[in-house]
Amino acid sequence: MATAPVPVQMPSPAPADHTQTERMGLWRWIYDRAGLSALTYPVPAHANTLPYTLGGISFVGFLVLALTGFWLAQFYDPMPDRVRGAVEYIQTQAALGGLVRGIHFWVANIVVVTVVLHLVRVFATASFKRPRELNWLVGVGLLGVTIAFAFTGSVLKWDQEAYEALQHNLEIAEILGGLGTFFSASFTTSVPVLVRLYATHVSLLPLLATLLFIGHFFLIKHHGISPLPAAADRGEAPRGKVPAPQLTARYSTHLRWMFGGGLVLAVVAAGLGLVFPAPLGEAPNPDLEITKPPFFFYWLYWFEDKFGVSAILYAGLAFGAALVLVPFVDRSPWRSLRRRPVVTVLAAAVIVAIVGLSLIVFFSPVVKHLGG
Ligand code: HEM
Repeated sequence: MATAPVPVQMPSPAPADHTQTERMGLWRWIYDRAGLSALTYPVPAHANTLPYTLGGISFVGFLVLALTGFWLAQFYDPMPDRVRGAVEYIQTQAALGGLVRGIHFWVANIVVVTVVLHLVRVFATASFKRPRELNWLVGVGLLGVTIAFAFTGSVLKWDQEAYEALQHNLEIAEILGGLGTFFSASFTTSVPVLVRLYATHVSLLPLLATLLFIGHFFLIKHHGISPLPAAADRGEAPRGKVPAPQLTARYSTHLRWMFGGGLVLAVVAAGLGLVFPAPLGEAPNPDLEITKPPFFFYWLYWFEDKFGVSAILYAGLAFGAALVLVPFVDRSPWRSLRRRPVVTVLAAAVIVAIVGLSLIVFFSPVVKHLGG
């Protein structure tokens, strides 16, 4: 007589495994639905090194600035008669105010440094050469936006340094004549300049930055990361592209480095903010001129010292124009620095001059410039 088959009892998974399976399931669900596999495309191994991640770390720094800036905006008031009280309120009473202001201030300063280091890396590896000339120009735009963020931000805290910075803004607007009307106080009598600078800081500049980021990242994806200079000079990277067999790493690893680096940056900024809180000097006194600008403007301060306020404009424009010209001047097919001796010496001279002049200003007393 045939007997019915005995159903096999499958052991039920241990609770820990079960949770893990569910977690994997959730991750898989998100991974599949969000199309995250698109981020695992192959990249060359050198794309996952620190010099090639400085742009990404700068970008994550911008995200931290947007978040902390949003928090600060909950308590900030740009009306001239209330602004001082608002900044003091943020510093002393607002929820997490002092800490968030410290992170915003320090991340902003560090991002200026990482953006400049990124630029130096792109220059040194000749990554602006064909076919990436346009992306270099988008990068120059991003540098301009970064500086504009840093300048308008430094005015918003409305202490003596901020007041003097704003006076420079107004004097340069006057030198520009008709072109400077928008940057002058007379553009409108219904809204104070400080409020207009705040609007620029939280609305126009984030919009410009977003558009430029989209362009920058589209072009990076389109052209792929540039080859290592030595390999390109050996003829191993036709048309400036790393050949497919050498794409041995993954972009998802790059993203991990980028966000990891950004996290380290935020933690370092928080630590710095706790030990050295974001500065807030005395309330502005229009009769005084006793401060120096933020460190990244020191070299311009030296020019102002020697040749007057207009020199800030001319030196700044000359520097910007030189950057714009880079891909059109350095057009040889060579990418290693030693095969580009003329531009290497010129660039080294500019870097030494900027660092040298900044050090001179750092060790010099404050000089009166305005109203001269
Ligand atoms: C807000 C500032 C900037 C951000 C967030 C940013 C972001 C990035 C990122 C994520 C990359 C991919 C590789 C890397 O991280 O090194 C990159 C590449 C590039 N960036 Fe930027 N960048 C900025 C400013 C600049 C500036 C100032 C320049 C030059 C004037 C520039 C020119 C380029 C070029 C040409 C590439 C392609 C490099 C290659 O293929 O090796 N960027 N940028």
